[in-house]
Amino acid sequence: MITKQKGTYDVYGIDAKKRKYVCDVIDAICEKYNYTYMETPVFEASELFHRSVGESSDIVRKETYDFKDRGERSITLRPEGTAGIVRSFIENKMYGNMTEPVKVYYIEPMFRYERPQSGRSRQFTQFGFEFIGSDDAISDAEVISLAYNTYKLLGIDVKVQLNTLGDKESRDNYREALIKYFEPNIDKLCEDCKERLHKNPLRILDCKIDSESDILKNAPKTIDYLNVDSKNRFLKLQEYLDLMDISYEINTNLVRGLDYYNHTVFEIVGNIPEFGSQNVLGGGGRYNGLIEMLDGPSMPAVGFAMGLDRTILAMEKLGVNFNIKDNIDVYIMYGNEEEKETATYLLQDLRLNGFIAETDYMNRQFKNQFKSADRFNSKYLIILKNDDLKDFKVTVKDNTTKEEELVNINDLVDYLDMKL
Ligand code: HAM
Repeated sequence: MITKQKGTYDVYGIDAKKRKYVCDVIDAICEKYNYTYMETPVFEASELFHRSVGESSDIVRKETYDFKDRGERSITLRPEGTAGIVRSFIENKMYGNMTEPVKVYYIEPMFRYERPQSGRSRQFTQFGFEFIGSDDAISDAEVISLAYNTYKLLGIDVKVQLNTLGDKESRDNYREALIKYFEPNIDKLCEDCKERLHKNPLRILDCKIDSESDILKNAPKTIDYLNVDSKNRFLKLQEYLDLMDISYEINTNLVRGLDYYNHTVFEIVGNIPEFGSQNVLGGGGRYNGLIEMLDGPSMPAVGFAMGLDRTILAMEKLGVNFNIKDNIDVYIMYGNEEEKETATYLLQDLRLNGFIAETDYMNRQFKNQFKSADRFNSKYLIILKNDDLKDFKVTVKDNTTKEEELVNINDLVDYLDMKL
């Protein structure tokens, strides 16, 4: 038997219904915030991720699915959505006649070669959104608010952890301070951190192995190296978040694992005891230099992404009601070929009039059709009998009260409309 690959999963049955519910909530809130849905290819040129996510990031160093296609091109299955959106933004010249910022969202599969564990897999689905074209702190606040309110609507109580890396000048100053600080202690840190020291010292703060070390805990803080503009920008953002009544806390150690960020970085953290240290449900930030780095115009941008699987798992742990519809409106029953022909016509008519309708597809006896209707939790049964059909009538049975009524076939839609 051929089985699924490690770190992948099938979605079906109740899990598929839960996923659909979450996607519907996301679609509805994105519509309110005026973000439009967007799709990009699952695979892209490897260089796209090397240049954007960063050579020194864990994702590019250890987690990408890279392969050569039959034309010897270096291809990577996308590990995240931002790079593809930015590539598309540039390639399709969305900046051409831009009079308003571009606001898009996606719900798509991503691929990372990670050690599979609860809420972490090798193929996973991300809901993400990107806001391209404004450098004002109100756009950061909007992105944080959309992320925050999505969790709220899904019934998950979350906190925003917030930090700023500042602009290029602030980041460069901070980078230097970190190298100076870590250099004398580097032997006490892991092999990855040794490599990060000169390539990207900020990533040391994000190290999963050394996270509890005092060396990391006492490291210089981003906030002390911000220039005046960056500091004021961060204060303005906090003011906007206060006005939006968003609950956040400042975490000066937060740097995020991707290289493209500057100014705002944030993570959305849940409070699910079973998740322990894995309570980060999503993250995002500003990436003002990325579009230019990928040969596009100089343009500011900010965005966020969350793992759908982890979100659904959190909702399950919290006992959230997924609003799953587990019944149909009508089940049509018949006993012979003539009645079946009427069933065929009625099924189509009822479905096109908005009812969820089912019937028997295997010429089973009435007894088994009743069982089938119960399995589907059908609210009404339509029982077709030639004797009634002669007078253009059908029997409609309320499957809860078990009351039956003879209804003219031409009045059936109105009758069910009234009842349902
Ligand atoms: P990220 O922090 O790498 O950011 O991923 C965002 C979220 O994707 C994580 O918080 C987690 O919920 C989910 N995720 C990541 N890896 C896995 C996995 N192996 N299994 C299940 N879920 C996972 C980004 O991807 C950025 N593109 C976010 C962004 C958008 N920044 C700006 N715009």
